[in-house]
Amino acid sequence: MSEHVESRRAFTRHALQSLTAVALLEGLAAGRLFGADVQPVVDKWLDDLNTISRDVRDHKVKDVEFTKSLEALYRRADLNTLLKNLDFDRIAKGVTYPAHGAKSLPVDFKNVEGLSTNAVFGRQIFAMKQGRSVVPHGHDNMATGFLVLKGNLRGRHYDRVEDHKDHYIIKPTIDRSFTPGEFSTVTDHHDNVHWFTAESETAFIFNIHVNDTNPENPKPPGRVYVDPMGEKLAGGLIKAQKVTYGKINQMYG
Ligand SMILES: [Fe+2]
Repeated sequence: MSEHVESRRAFTRHALQSLTAVALLEGLAAGRLFGADVQPVVDKWLDDLNTISRDVRDHKVKDVEFTKSLEALYRRADLNTLLKNLDFDRIAKGVTYPAHGAKSLPVDFKNVEGLSTNAVFGRQIFAMKQGRSVVPHGHDNMATGFLVLKGNLRGRHYDRVEDHKDHYIIKPTIDRSFTPGEFSTVTDHHDNVHWFTAESETAFIFNIHVNDTNPENPKPPGRVYVDPMGEKLAGGLIKAQKVTYGKINQMYG
């Protein structure tokens, strides 16, 4: 659950306390987002998502295979139907946008049979105002995927080439505009650092993350905040200093 500034435990507690605050996929499961005729498709989608998440957490598949499967699922998601049926105005009205950074909104699955108790993946929606960011960060032992729900964002990604005590050596991989329905994924092995900045008035990103996805990484799952605008090195590499959340939020939030 570490795809968030709070500690894993605190985030879990917060998410449990806020289960009904925003219920994108609860509504989806209840048929408000998809009609009854496509409900089985939605159930299947969530079931498939849980299956691939379990497989990577149990180390039956590699994290890079998981992200390929996650991308296939994101590609399959009927975002137009979802957006048409989702009352985004109501959701946006309920969001207290932070002055810096992005707001993490919990997503519940309590109306999806079985999922509320056995979902392997963490999930949330990031909401932010224009110019604000999901601040740059890398990840340890996590696989995660972002799907743009609404708005346009600049999405910057970097491979983590080296991991040192106080910095990463990173290499830019993706820097482009992301529009609704577009997505990207992250693992220990590719595009480990990401950074999304809202270019529209508001922007919403759906996030899935699974912990303990890399048996070769002894570190506990979590975010690592780094400054990707650091010293430029030979070969297009960048020295990205590790910093605190407070600092990175002040710099880029
Ligand atoms: Fe992330």
